[in-house]
Amino acid sequence: MSENSENKDSAPSNDAVLERRPLDVVPLHREGLNPPALNPDAVPAHVACVMDGNGRWANARGLPRTEGHRVGESTMMDVIAGAVELGVKELSVYAFSTENWKRSPAEVRFLMGFTRSVLRAQTDDLLAWGVRVNWVGREPRLWKSVLKEVRRSERITAGNDTMVLNMCLNYGGRAEIADAARAIVHDVESGRLRASSISEKTVQRYLYSPNMRDVDLFIRTGGEQRTSNFLMWSSAYAELYFSDLPWPEFDRTELWRACEAYAHRERRFGGAVDRVSS
Ligand code: IPE
Ligand code: IPE
Ligand code: MG
Repeated sequence: MSENSENKDSAPSNDAVLERRPLDVVPLHREGLNPPALNPDAVPAHVACVMDGNGRWANARGLPRTEGHRVGESTMMDVIAGAVELGVKELSVYAFSTENWKRSPAEVRFLMGFTRSVLRAQTDDLLAWGVRVNWVGREPRLWKSVLKEVRRSERITAGNDTMVLNMCLNYGGRAEIADAARAIVHDVESGRLRASSISEKTVQRYLYSPNMRDVDLFIRTGGEQRTSNFLMWSSAYAELYFSDLPWPEFDRTELWRACEAYAHRERRFGGAVDRVSS
């Protein structure tokens, strides 16, 4: 709705033909629920999600683990829609870790092929919703066809600026820091960088995605209370939120619940305020 539409008597204006904004095309919650009315300052700018519990969810229903991954696709799209609705600026999803190569060849093969088809199937919606896809991870071992697909999604959505979706694929926090260290040493040896000038900002510049914001809210579903090597550097001061729901049962209302909990946290970043009453 344009601002002018309040003036019902005015002649139809050009506003009627304005392009639809992303928020007008993000699908609403299936029962029409709205995001909580949080003060914009209290909305986490960057939310990271460890989408965990797919396999256990499926096995508990007598289904193979892969069925849990399949159902997880719609959870992911619902959470993305809910994040856009709430005004989150950056959402990072852990889709495949550098440790997940330890799984059976059949599950790894499924996850690679499935990720590729999710990207192919969902990029049009992400484009319409104003979401910019950004791959975060390392290249070695990642299937070439998956890399090609995520690069295609990046290209198609490159002009979007409502929310960044970091697709963390073949991502590991320690690998990211080791890769950054290697690149830093390379630049020091070639004279492009002085060792004495290396600061936290320098390290940030050598991460897979140097423009990534610090994570404000780190969510893990599936009942485990660990971070499993996700965004170690960027989550150094994140607020942690653990949900017992397996990822296939999570949805945007659960994301909103986590964001409401976040809004009540007091973030001190090492500082302190003396509140002694006089
Ligand atoms: C997370 O669910 C999805 C990926 C790791 C790709 P899991 O597959 O880890 O499911 P659980 O934790 O074994 O239930
Ligand atoms: C973390 O979940 C990785 C992803 C969600 C992609 P895992 O299921 O692999 O983590 P662990 O094995 O419980 O630590
Ligand atoms: Mg798991």
